[in-house]
Amino acid sequence: MSPTHPIQVSINGKTIEKRVEPRLLLADFIRHEAGLTGTHVGCEHGVCGACTILFDGKPVRSCIMLAVQANGHDITTVEGLAVSEDKLHPIQNAFWEAHGLQCGFCTPGILMTLVPFLQENKNPSEAEAREAISGNLCRCTGYQHIVDATLLAAKKLREAES
Ligand code: FES
Ligand code: FES
Repeated sequence: MSPTHPIQVSINGKTIEKRVEPRLLLADFIRHEAGLTGTHVGCEHGVCGACTILFDGKPVRSCIMLAVQANGHDITTVEGLAVSEDKLHPIQNAFWEAHGLQCGFCTPGILMTLVPFLQENKNPSEAEAREAISGNLCRCTGYQHIVDATLLAAKKLREAES
């Protein structure tokens, strides 16, 4: 058995301290050690985008990072998006209203990809929205409703700011 290393990670504003094996994937740390199963694991090869989280505010694929690399960093998972149990984040609301999901497996990764994208591009075109989610695979929707939800989310965020 490998020696373990102490890590301290902030996840959704809460500090978590654990000892982890050096090869433990960040996605597995989030799901199994922190108990936040909203981060999904599909390909485990950095291809599908299902495991996307925010790492110091930037979208990353947590299946191709190690838990030890997160020591001292801030992580946001999909569980950290909603304002409260009964108040969704505007992007989540847009996906709900525009039917931007079917099985929902890809949805957390898409939401976490869109959070920084819509912070930087407040009024994206359809082509820009498609480009933004081009690294997130969805086997159900055909993408049109995800694109619609993305544009609706941008509108909701603009309205919330005005
Ligand atoms: S599970 Fe990480 S990119 Fe597919
Ligand atoms: S909604 Fe099923 S994979 Fe996207």
